[in-house]
Amino acid sequence: MLEIKYELSENLKEKPKDETKLGFGHIFTDHMFVMNYDEGKGWNNARIVPFGNVELSPAAMCLHYGQEIFEGLKAYRTADGSVQLFRPDENFKRMNVSAKRMVIPQIDEEFCLYALKELLKIEEEWVPHTEGAALYIRPFIFATDPYVGVKPADHYLFMIILSPSGAYYSTGLNPVKIYVESKYVRAVRGGTGFAKTAANYAISLAGQEEAHQQDYEQVLWLDGVEQRYVEEVGSMNIFFVIDGEVVTPLLTGSVLPGITRKSAIEICKKKGLKVSERKIAIDEIAKAYDEGKLDEVFGTGTAAVISPVGHLKWGDKIMTINDNKIGKISQMLYDTMTGMQWGKIPDEFGWIVPLKD
Ligand code: COI
Repeated sequence: MLEIKYELSENLKEKPKDETKLGFGHIFTDHMFVMNYDEGKGWNNARIVPFGNVELSPAAMCLHYGQEIFEGLKAYRTADGSVQLFRPDENFKRMNVSAKRMVIPQIDEEFCLYALKELLKIEEEWVPHTEGAALYIRPFIFATDPYVGVKPADHYLFMIILSPSGAYYSTGLNPVKIYVESKYVRAVRGGTGFAKTAANYAISLAGQEEAHQQDYEQVLWLDGVEQRYVEEVGSMNIFFVIDGEVVTPLLTGSVLPGITRKSAIEICKKKGLKVSERKIAIDEIAKAYDEGKLDEVFGTGTAAVISPVGHLKWGDKIMTINDNKIGKISQMLYDTMTGMQWGKIPDEFGWIVPLKD
């Protein structure tokens, strides 16, 4: 295993005073983890250093061709003050799946989790003490070679930065308004939809802007071929409760295999609910709505947690779900998931990883 070098900051920042007003993703802690990859040498120079800017050549390949991948997970503080993670091994496993698709070198998953824990031990005080807030963790890798030809790079940086954060949506647990996108597409068969790579998010911005102009928070993406089958929201996976059955799009390669998605499916099954992963046409959703069978719609994600959807707009049709209130299954999932994450209920699944054993 690589050895980590430690260079600790002498100018510690002031921590946020009001943890109920953190917002999402704009405050960063004092330190970050960094390591380099150089062809022929592999991953090297693992270090924890003060959080700061990165020096990059203007020709760095990530800036031109987007060879980049990332992950998102959180550290939670429990009532007894200890810190814990939720299925962090799954994030580093998925990072290697994304790396393969983007021709980025594989990481040592076990080492990366160890490095994250080392960083968290230094930044432990940054893990919020307030319910509803957590320390968002962003591992990412990008190509640094100064070269403007198109090829996989020979040099990369892997970094982990940390951000004390509250709810991703300003609405918190109140239902969000989602707009079904029928002009743009996010992913296509054989593309990068399943990978956590910057391009998937850049591509989503135009649709998101148009949704915002209509006062909708996010976009629900349809498949890239027929623009008929529901895929995901981009910042979260999507679930429908139709006539008591929990339904979510099948992972066909163009949908992100969310860890919260996977956990929500496992929790629902354990609670005895019927769950299907299958293709869902948007017209099926509209029909279920018209027949009064669309009980709930919600999104799942690390940042989004469980986000109920109150309005779904498809063309001129506006569907108001469950009277714009959080539904029973969404609430159950939110309570179970956050209950485990904040250590309020026992972890029956073996998903919680304490920071300190
Ligand atoms: C996450 O949920 O961690 C993500 O990476 C989604 C991102 C849009 C915040």
